[in-house]
Amino acid sequence: MDNAGIEKPLKVPETPPIDDIPVALRDNPVVESQNRLKPAWLIGGLLGLGGLAFIFGMLLGAPAPNSKVISSEQTQPRPTQSSPSATETQPPVRTLLGHFAYEEAPKSDLEPISSDSRLRLRKVAAKKFQEMVGAARQSGVILVPISAFRSLKEQQHLFFDIKAERGQDAKTRAEVSAPPGYSEHHTGYALDIGDGKVPATDVNPNFEHTAAFKWLQANATHFSFEMSFPRNNTQGVSYEPWHWRYVGDQQSLETFYQAKKLGVPSPESPVRSP
Ligand code: DAL
Ligand code: ZN
Repeated sequence: MDNAGIEKPLKVPETPPIDDIPVALRDNPVVESQNRLKPAWLIGGLLGLGGLAFIFGMLLGAPAPNSKVISSEQTQPRPTQSSPSATETQPPVRTLLGHFAYEEAPKSDLEPISSDSRLRLRKVAAKKFQEMVGAARQSGVILVPISAFRSLKEQQHLFFDIKAERGQDAKTRAEVSAPPGYSEHHTGYALDIGDGKVPATDVNPNFEHTAAFKWLQANATHFSFEMSFPRNNTQGVSYEPWHWRYVGDQQSLETFYQAKKLGVPSPESPVRSP
């Protein structure tokens, strides 16, 4: 018999190694005799028996030799394997001049946070903001909301009309104001906060020297608020110590962090010092 192409018999150890996975549970169960050289008649006989076993196996619904052993768990539907992942179902993240695209919050989810009811936040953020105002007051600090939810139309005025009034180019305007459709204020989770005792620092980098800012820095995370645009932020937006956003539930967290994770700072808006 021509032995060319037939592997040399492997030496079978007297004590088989201890296996982590029982043979019956492996993807490719080891056939104990597969490496042993047999006389042709024995191989033929085994092949015949194997064929018969295969046919009976198929008829009885048993797994065929060398087929993948499927556990009962594997026979259950596996939605996470067949469904597209959360990332795949996300629409592509759009950025413009360093800002991420955001949708307007539904009006039905907005609640007033100012006595004249002009300033509104999403209900969940409004509640936490009011709690934060109360806690700050206990320490003698007056947090004042300056701007909260903004519609696309309001942002359009802030971006285009003010840009024209000041004779700014789009890039310069975008350092301090997001284009409509790209402001965190659309989400109803973000707001601008001032110090009631130092109104001259409203929407001004000097706000960082106020007691209100220092209190926010030390305590805002307890109410799930964080500063959106710290110094040298990767979006290239100017330092805004007054602008804070709520990230205390799944929806708000996804709103801001999926955009951050998937998006990249716009190349036309590099990181710059304030
Ligand atoms: N001032 C921030 C960037 C905004 O307009 O949303
Ligand atoms: Zn703001």
